[in-house]
Amino acid sequence: MKRIALLGATGSIGRQALEIVDAHPGLELVAAASGSQSIDGLAPLTQVGGDLTDLLERAEPDLVLNAVVGFAGLRATLWCLEHGVDLALANKESLVTGGELATEAHARGQGRLLPVDSEHSALHQCLEGRGAETVHSVVLTASGGPFRGRTRDDLADVTPEEALAHPTWNMGPKITVDSATLANKGLELIEAHFLFDLPYDRIEVAIHPTSVVHALVRFRDGAALAHLGYPDMRVPISYALTYPERAATPIPQLDLASGLTLEFSAPDLETFPLLPLAREAGRRGGTYPCAFNAANEVAVAAFLDGRLPFLGIAEVVEEALAAADGAPARDLDELVEADADARRVAERGLQPA
Ligand SMILES: NC(=O)c1ccc[n+]([C@@H]2O[C@H](COP(=O)([O-])OP(=O)(O)OC[C@H]3O[C@@H](n4cnc5c(N)ncnc54)[C@H](OP(=O)(O)O)[C@@H]3O)[C@@H](O)[C@H]2O)c1
Repeated sequence: MKRIALLGATGSIGRQALEIVDAHPGLELVAAASGSQSIDGLAPLTQVGGDLTDLLERAEPDLVLNAVVGFAGLRATLWCLEHGVDLALANKESLVTGGELATEAHARGQGRLLPVDSEHSALHQCLEGRGAETVHSVVLTASGGPFRGRTRDDLADVTPEEALAHPTWNMGPKITVDSATLANKGLELIEAHFLFDLPYDRIEVAIHPTSVVHALVRFRDGAALAHLGYPDMRVPISYALTYPERAATPIPQLDLASGLTLEFSAPDLETFPLLPLAREAGRRGGTYPCAFNAANEVAVAAFLDGRLPFLGIAEVVEEALAAADGAPARDLDELVEADADARRVAERGLQPA
């Protein structure tokens, strides 16, 4: 029996994970956490908010699925990696913000780090543990979100409702807005850099509207392996929770005769500047990715509240990055400080001039 702790149990990933756990006799939910919603009785141990590592200390899980949204997931990610507890990671923000500390903790703890993000799960499956030296480059696909094909002018007045209408994935509000701005793909670039030890110039992004190909690895021998499947997060969640078993799921098999279209194009970096801004923050390293993430979290929340126009999200992030010193964080406290500094600058950017 694999003892599972589920952090972010009330969210989009969390609810789908509960379905997978319920259907698999080898998985036992021993602990669950949420941010504010009540989850009494969902698992033998539950916690709402607070320091999630308290719950993990008590639960002694074999595997933690971190499906918390945002920087709030960082402490639990570092705890798992440090303690050698297997981690199924949906909370990409923790690897983006704390990538260096996480890599060091992972090397010490030696537990498994299994990505849940569909593109990174796809890369994990194509790579099968092969090192970065065998890889020429990798490609992360992006649906392009609801605003694919629009110009900057078209985006001036888009509403949260329009941004939340994702064409292929049904997800929580923050990641859905991140998909509309392409910030999500920017976060994923940084996530891939840390997960697979690849430099940024070997991680590409391609727009692929139907989200059937999740990622592709080009190997140094000229072979390219792609991962295909209908867009359904239960596949990567199940892969991570049952690794290396590949348990059965109720997801339909890919039907090549049904008129699948596999189109790819380059992202429009002018209309969606958060993607190149994230790449630049990743390249600069230190706490620049942390500042990118913090300002983006503040700006997305303001957009969803109607306090910031859609195009303002990138402006707020750009200003916060310009104000950040990017100095590397030596520990979690310094990272928390860098996050707080960037949030303060971003909040100032929301005030009317
Ligand atoms: N949804 C997807 O398809 C998808 C795909 C790939 C990656 N991801 C990543 O997975 C993560 C979760 O995404 P989501 O779409 O599932 O988000 P979501 O639907 O907004 O759910 C977020 C979850 O995090 C919990 N939470 C928030 N703050 C917390 C805190 N301080 N302590 C404990 N729990 C907290 C929420 O609890 P409350 O309900 O109580 O607030 C909720 O359970 C994100 O990092 C996202 O980027 C999601």
